[in-house]
Amino acid sequence: MILADFLVEQWLNPMDSKAEHNLGTSCVRAMTMDELFRVTNQDEDAFLEEMRTMSLHYHHGDSTGSPRIKKAVAGIYPRSNVSPDHVMMVHGGTGANDIVIMGLLEKGDNIVVVKPTYQQHYDIPKSIGIETRIVQLKEEDDYLLNMDTLRKTVDKNTKLIALSNPNNPTGATLYEEDLRELVEIAKSVDAYILCDEIYRGLDETYMSSILDYGYDKAISVSSMSKMFSMAGTRIGWIVTRDEAAYRNFENRRSYNTICCGIVDEVISSIALENYEKVWERSRNILLPNKEIVYNWVKTQPHLSLRGDAKGTTCLVRYDYNISSTELAVDAMEKAKILVCHGACFDEEPAFRIGYGGYTDQDKLRASLDAFSSYLKTLENR
Ligand SMILES: Cc1ncc(COP(=O)(O)O)c(C=O)c1O
Repeated sequence: MILADFLVEQWLNPMDSKAEHNLGTSCVRAMTMDELFRVTNQDEDAFLEEMRTMSLHYHHGDSTGSPRIKKAVAGIYPRSNVSPDHVMMVHGGTGANDIVIMGLLEKGDNIVVVKPTYQQHYDIPKSIGIETRIVQLKEEDDYLLNMDTLRKTVDKNTKLIALSNPNNPTGATLYEEDLRELVEIAKSVDAYILCDEIYRGLDETYMSSILDYGYDKAISVSSMSKMFSMAGTRIGWIVTRDEAAYRNFENRRSYNTICCGIVDEVISSIALENYEKVWERSRNILLPNKEIVYNWVKTQPHLSLRGDAKGTTCLVRYDYNISSTELAVDAMEKAKILVCHGACFDEEPAFRIGYGGYTDQDKLRASLDAFSSYLKTLENR
């Protein structure tokens, strides 16, 4: 089995702690435990008491997740009729994507992947010999999915349609009308939908989920990593009403997970039960930062940015004479500026800026200033 290098993870994970100017991360600035308790108004003593007496066995009754966390996850989908029984806790969004893709796809199936997206969605199926059909988001469409193209790409062998919504890296987001149409297209060929909703939650008003439209083959995956600012818990989930798929995922999960960390589940439950407060914290970080980044791009003669990002990142195009990989490596080496090269998403020439890493806007501005100075050095190449 040949599995392509996972470019975004191989680049960001080692560089994250080395960068002075971190415009690479797709997470919202991580919370400390103290901050989690503050944001969610928890009684820290009661929590510590619970921890002291907690059994550290595999799990407490239900290996697919504690009843508490499964209920809390179901709660973040208030307009779908999912119950805790439809929720399965897994190891991060990466675990969720892997289990869904590996669990569903068989010889003879094809998967339709909306690209750019997280590399798991296309390179895992390719690695196991599955026909992988791409629907490319286009700059001129503000990276919104063209439903006619999708309709023409699926056929009776399409087992799964995979996308990230809000999109990584562009932040482009499909709302109710588009999601309904997407569901209709999937229904027309009886395909599952893998909707990676890890960036859902930025809007002040309700943000739709793929689970909201009554389609049992819709699957939402997400995790604590991005909008919940708790990537280190490694808690993620899969939610589907489809019983056969649920059983299939549960079996695969027995092979590679057994159960999630029980302490991580408790901590994550606190955030999930208070998701509106946690998302509000994220929103308060992301929205002003996004405006700063968008305004900064306007000041840069060689950069352009399309669409309205609703996640934690946006995709910036450039017209310098340098590949995106070279640019990212050079900016890191010369100026300790971390951005994610477009090559990680097969997008060239472009880089992804993540704007969730800064709680201090002056520091974000300083990083963008440093980046402006670096970019100037590219003008005469
Ligand atoms: C769309 C998407 N899905 C999944 C993941 C993996 O996240 P996790 O940390 O939950 O494994 C990421 C991380 O960047 C992502 O962007």
